[in-house]
Amino acid sequence: MNNIHGVVFIMIKNPLLFFHMNRFLAFERGAVRIYESFAKAIKDEEIKKYMEKFADIEYTHVQFWEKEIIKRGGKPTTKIADIAVFGTSLISTGVSKTGLLNMLRLGYYSEEIAVRDYSYFVTLWRKKYPQLADKIWQIASDEELHGIWQKEKLYELLGINPGKYRT
Ligand SMILES: [Fe+2]
Ligand SMILES: [Fe+2]
Repeated sequence: MNNIHGVVFIMIKNPLLFFHMNRFLAFERGAVRIYESFAKAIKDEEIKKYMEKFADIEYTHVQFWEKEIIKRGGKPTTKIADIAVFGTSLISTGVSKTGLLNMLRLGYYSEEIAVRDYSYFVTLWRKKYPQLADKIWQIASDEELHGIWQKEKLYELLGINPGKYRT
């Protein structure tokens, strides 16, 4: 069996795995664009720096999925619609406080979705792809931290004391 047939064999054998990996790739590309657009729109220096940092981290996730898909004989695709459209639609409102709060809300919710999706993937594929599942836990913990930071910042800006809700 030559290489080409090998690739076809893998693709046919694991279409769902490649579907998931490309979906994660699209999601991570969207995350880079969202945080880049937030960083551009936000005036507050501290929040801007965090958004730039988040965009850099999301880019390492993009690189991970691109390499992983290629390594497993697939082709990274951009066909799946990404979520950047939500991020760019907020740019115009980004300078106002409401715009900033909405950005943080969107960032927080999209990170929650990422954690949920990655957790689902790990549950589904842990036995078959243990190394991949381990790496995904690392990525998911990045997403969790991004989400927590934005939630805390949201509380701070809204004047809510999160300590009140902690035991
Ligand atoms: Fe990410
Ligand atoms: Fe993230």
